[in-house]
Amino acid sequence: MKAIQIQAPGADYRLVVDTVPQPKPGAGQVLIAVAAAGLNNADLLQARGLYPPPPGASPLLGVEVSGTIAALGEGVTGWKTGDRVCGLLPSGGYAEQALADAGSVLAVPGTIDLVEAAGLPEAAFTAWTNVMDTGRLQPGESLLIHGGTSGIGSLAIQMFAVRGHYIFTTAGSEEKCEAARRLGAARAINYREEDFVAVVKEETGGKGVDVILDMVGGDYVQRNIEAAAAWGRIVNIAYQKSFRAEVNFTPVLTKRLTLAATTLRGRTPEQKRAIRDALLREIWPLFGTRIRPVTDRIFPLEQASQAHEYMTKTGHIGKILLQMP
Ligand SMILES: NC(=O)c1ccc[n+]([C@@H]2O[C@H](COP(=O)([O-])OP(=O)(O)OC[C@H]3O[C@@H](n4cnc5c(N)ncnc54)[C@H](OP(=O)(O)O)[C@@H]3O)[C@@H](O)[C@H]2O)c1
Repeated sequence: MKAIQIQAPGADYRLVVDTVPQPKPGAGQVLIAVAAAGLNNADLLQARGLYPPPPGASPLLGVEVSGTIAALGEGVTGWKTGDRVCGLLPSGGYAEQALADAGSVLAVPGTIDLVEAAGLPEAAFTAWTNVMDTGRLQPGESLLIHGGTSGIGSLAIQMFAVRGHYIFTTAGSEEKCEAARRLGAARAINYREEDFVAVVKEETGGKGVDVILDMVGGDYVQRNIEAAAAWGRIVNIAYQKSFRAEVNFTPVLTKRLTLAATTLRGRTPEQKRAIRDALLREIWPLFGTRIRPVTDRIFPLEQASQAHEYMTKTGHIGKILLQMP
């Protein structure tokens, strides 16, 4: 089968199409005939040699795909060949066929284009577990999502706006803020022109926001603490600006805040299945009607290098995808 290989992993890596053996599903796994793979920062880091896949997983790039079930491993029930699915993978998605744990796979509704569905799993799993499990967002609470037009942000806004939450979000241009409002954000803040702490304080009458999903880090660590309401929860999924910050913890103590950070890739299949089951129960029925994939651009497989380069420019709104031939 065709797959993308990393030539010269490191700062100047190149991605090339190669022919590799087709994987065989083991117990509890499904083989997916891939329609498309979603791009993630994890792929860019892995290609630079900075984020190896978990032990035993495919050395190929790609942590999410869409496609149809091509074969079932031992003990897999509930799926049949030909089913339209999307799924989270430890790695191996930039290929014509990829393996997923059956518990990390979701059926793609008929109202969603199969290629576009490739952009759903990583964002849906990440947004749900960080906001609901770690952030413990309660009915009626407000939520601040940084990077509102990122792959994660563009889906997270929809998921939690639909559930009736007041969504603040930040983005780096007026065009991105407009897109975030269309997705359901009640207040989109262009962080190049406005201070999100001041906006959140003003709009909440000084109370602050209940839960913050952050991917920026650096000076946002302190500013999130300032923007949080009493008993607020701040969850980091990345620290793109910096992993280091000098922090005054006084408001953490006085406002009784929780600061947390999690990763998805290293979790066990059972932990991912629990997130998948929560998605299925709580929100997946709204996908294809009130929640839709946000696709910025689809590249053909052989343009994987260009797709990576495009992602590093951060001009995109929503997901960047790689379509299989
Ligand atoms: N922990 C986990 O489990 C997990 C899972 C998936 C992804 N992630 C991480 O989450 C992040 C988002 O993923 P993604 O796929 O949604 O990425 P993405 O689509 O590439 O979006 C990143 C966004 O971050 C914003 N940004 C970048 N640098 C910034 C800065 N210095 N200040 C403010 N905003 C900045 C950019 O928007 P603006 O133009 O608006 O600045 C950009 O749209 C990535 O860093 C990824 O590694 C973590």
